[in-house]
Amino acid sequence: MPSSTRLSVWVALTAVLVWCYLNIATILEATAGRITIDQVRLRRWENLPDVANGACVVDTVANACEDVNIHAASSTAFLACGDPAGRVQWFPSSGYQPSTNRPTFREQFFKYDLKTQTRTELKLDLGSLLPEDHDIVTHGLDIYPGKDDSQILVFAVNHARDGDAILIFEHTLGTDVLQLVREVRNPAIKCANSVAAVSPRSFYITNDHYYPRGILRQLEDRFGPWSWATSVQYCSVEGDNVVCKEVSETMPCANGLAVSDNLVFAGDSKNGSVTVYEMENGKPDQLRLVRVVDVGAIADNIKILAGTEDPLVTVFPDGEELPLFLSNVSALGQTVFAPTAVLRLRKDRDFEPELLLRDNGAQLTDMTAADIDPKTRTLVGASFLKYGGFAVCKLPDSVDLS
Ligand SMILES: *[C@@H]1O[C@H](CO)[C@@H](O)[C@H](O)[C@H]1NC(C)=O
Ligand SMILES: *[C@@H]1O[C@H](CO)[C@@H](O)[C@H](O)[C@H]1NC(C)=O
Repeated sequence: MPSSTRLSVWVALTAVLVWCYLNIATILEATAGRITIDQVRLRRWENLPDVANGACVVDTVANACEDVNIHAASSTAFLACGDPAGRVQWFPSSGYQPSTNRPTFREQFFKYDLKTQTRTELKLDLGSLLPEDHDIVTHGLDIYPGKDDSQILVFAVNHARDGDAILIFEHTLGTDVLQLVREVRNPAIKCANSVAAVSPRSFYITNDHYYPRGILRQLEDRFGPWSWATSVQYCSVEGDNVVCKEVSETMPCANGLAVSDNLVFAGDSKNGSVTVYEMENGKPDQLRLVRVVDVGAIADNIKILAGTEDPLVTVFPDGEELPLFLSNVSALGQTVFAPTAVLRLRKDRDFEPELLLRDNGAQLTDMTAADIDPKTRTLVGASFLKYGGFAVCKLPDSVDLS
């Protein structure tokens, strides 16, 4: 080949590569299931005045609480909390991979009594099921009735560095101990985010990514979002066996999850939507899609409002600048603010979202979950990266909880 021909081949090849690079999103959309999400749609609650946040108190002992669930009968909030500095090193949902040879990560659970306004750290009794120095890195949490009224079960996502699991604890109300009764592992529990209990030994989980770690995970984060990346799994424990089944269609970033009677709600934190499913003939492993609700913002955890059974969805009304928050955890709520909002999806209005609370980020910053106790008219909101990890807000009379 004459050198001038060789040169033109190289020029042409380079031009093709540059074109591919510049059009990578379009190419991946046509070939690999990448999707574009309209970012304007995710700003419905941006730049609004604060709502119902005038009587909040931030707890300064618990930190980095990702999830909260209120046990209505005892007016007690149960919280999955942790360590902001540790989460910067190792919190798989945020894309951070273990770069550390820290011997162990040990995060905490708390309870907060809404009647006496007392916070108590819960002691973990791992029994002989896990070694004492096993990693505990918390994320989603749910509670379920125990064998009688004196007990509950606590289901919690755990991100140990050797893999995700759902931990099932027994808790006797009034005590400060969580007794581990089962560590549930399965290949389908790989990038776990939320958990919603269905029975003492079965639950739904969301995975928020497809690849837990490694180069494929980096490519997933770098070039996504992907329509096929995540979904809801139903898992049940039968003796030593754990059986999991994908029960939803796939979505870009499944996140919050809640069950109420035979309805299942799954939020998507990239798509800004909540999908409502119904268990067919009451069977938890057979879900039928009822409808997709556009909530107009990144949707995080979902809780059920006791009494009405309406879903409460915590959202990021101004978006979530995760890299900024991760590199400034000690400034969160001080000089770096992540506004937050709680939406109620009213069943009797076809799940149309209604703004229940909004905070500019001074008290409830980077909030990932909020639950309400209607009896004491109190909201407990959890901030997943912040020092001062939850806030307790008395709701004004203007908020209708009926
Ligand atoms: C994303 O949200 C839009 C608007 O609510 C909805 O129409 C669409 O079905 C959602 N996509 C998925 C995969 O949930
Ligand atoms: C966030 O942290 C980075 C790196 O430490 C620093 O340069 C930046 O000023 C911080 N931003 C804010 C708003 O505090």
